[in-house]
Amino acid sequence: MQGRDHIPISNRPDPKPFSRRHTPRYYVQRVRDSLSTRVSKFICATLLSFLAVVAIITFVLWISLRPHRPRVHVHGFSISGLNPGSEFNNAQIYFNLTTRNSNQNIGIYYENMNGSAYYRDHNIGSKPLLRPFFQEPKKTTVVGGVLGGPTLKISDALWTDMLGDKKAKRTVVFRFDLTAMIKFKISMWESKHHRMHANCDVAVGPDGSILDAYRDKRCPVYFS
Ligand SMILES: *[C@@H]1O[C@H](CO)[C@@H](O)[C@H](O)[C@H]1NC(C)=O
Ligand SMILES: *[C@@H]1O[C@H](CO)[C@@H](O)[C@H](O)[C@H]1NC(C)=O
Repeated sequence: MQGRDHIPISNRPDPKPFSRRHTPRYYVQRVRDSLSTRVSKFICATLLSFLAVVAIITFVLWISLRPHRPRVHVHGFSISGLNPGSEFNNAQIYFNLTTRNSNQNIGIYYENMNGSAYYRDHNIGSKPLLRPFFQEPKKTTVVGGVLGGPTLKISDALWTDMLGDKKAKRTVVFRFDLTAMIKFKISMWESKHHRMHANCDVAVGPDGSILDAYRDKRCPVYFS
């Protein structure tokens, strides 16, 4: 009938010895130790708060200075001469887009810009657009032009497909891309170059003019 607690006397651990008396040096050391712990804790806390403040300031600056990408809209797009019996070399594509700098305090340098038309992912024409220019904040620039003659290269097969789309679906779907090299200007500082792409989906009706569903639509913009 031996319970767990019944340990034979001889096996009991020795009673704790009285804490020994410490020398004054020991106490001085202890005070020093606790003082240095407190000092290093204080330094750590100060450093951490400082870092936190710096991080918050950086974040706020970054949020307020972060450039917004340009906003590109397609307003007009049409193809003329898309008729059976007509040659594609007589065809012309008219386009009218705008690019807006929606930033409050950031200017944009456009160093060069190309417009390209695609049909079924085939490039059917490209040309350089506008001269290099600087766009002030909150300004909109019209980007318009014509692709035709040497700048419009449609193969016989694609031309036939376009005529087929027009006849069968009463609509022809294109894509118009704007590619530009841009730099942001924030006060005295200029960013590095970014290659900007805007992809505008457009569809024309039987008369060759953009359908209302595609007019004034915003084009997705990305950088590469
Ligand atoms: C292009 O679109 C803009 C904005 O809608 C318009 O003000 C301008 O007159 C258009 N230009 C042409 C040539 O259609
Ligand atoms: C525009 O096209 C020209 C000639 O093909 C090319 O040298 C230039 O890099 C292009 N620009 C952009 C921004 O893609």
